[in-house]
Amino acid sequence: MTRQKFVAGNWKMNGSLQANAALLQAICRALATDPPVCRVAVAVPAPYLAQARQLLEGSVVELGAQDVSRHEQGAYTGEVSAAMLGDFAVRHCLVGHSERRQYHGETDAVVAAKAQRLLAHGITPIVCVGETLAEREAAQTQAVVARQLGAVLDQVGADAERIIVAYEPVWAIGTGRTASPQEAQQVHAGVRAQLAAVSALAAQVPVLYGGSMNAGNAAELLAQPDIDGGLIGGAALKAPDFLKIISAARIQ
Ligand code: PGA
Repeated sequence: MTRQKFVAGNWKMNGSLQANAALLQAICRALATDPPVCRVAVAVPAPYLAQARQLLEGSVVELGAQDVSRHEQGAYTGEVSAAMLGDFAVRHCLVGHSERRQYHGETDAVVAAKAQRLLAHGITPIVCVGETLAEREAAQTQAVVARQLGAVLDQVGADAERIIVAYEPVWAIGTGRTASPQEAQQVHAGVRAQLAAVSALAAQVPVLYGGSMNAGNAAELLAQPDIDGGLIGGAALKAPDFLKIISAARIQ
């Protein structure tokens, strides 16, 4: 069974009303004349959800968010709930991005709770996992990734088939240093096996690669049997680069 590729842009804390409009209009215009074979999404900062929703109307590009509260509602100043994301027709939301784990102290348990909260609101969690350089050098890669994913799988049970996984080695994020296709494929195969242990449907969830994926290296990464797409940071902020990655997903 061939899985449809999925290319998602993670804008991180970048953008402005003006820049977002220019970027999304350029992407939507290009994809309207040359429709993508893969699914395409953008994860925008929360204040721009309304703007992005409007700009994406009628387009194939799906709306995503970057984070969500693990709480349902109430006295959690500054937090954004899954229900609020749902109000803006958000379809996907990142959880456990390494920048959240590293700078905001998110534990595996917090990430799992967020994933479950999203699923309860019909939003697909894009569960980010990945090892640091020190963990890779200590040959801990598979163990770390298995622990991070395992926490989510234990929490969501049969809903595992409704998640997306993104393998993002921390040492490759924003560094220009990409995992080689072989290095990435090896980890993806482990992720796939872990998902397959849950159910046959869970084995088919998209497993994306992220970490300095760009127009130049996307095709080779996306050609790997267990790499189902990309989570793109820096290169998602420039329409021509993002569109080239989307095209690379087409030729698999
Ligand atoms: P990068 O970021 O493509 O800029 O390395 C990827 C990510 O953090 O999702």
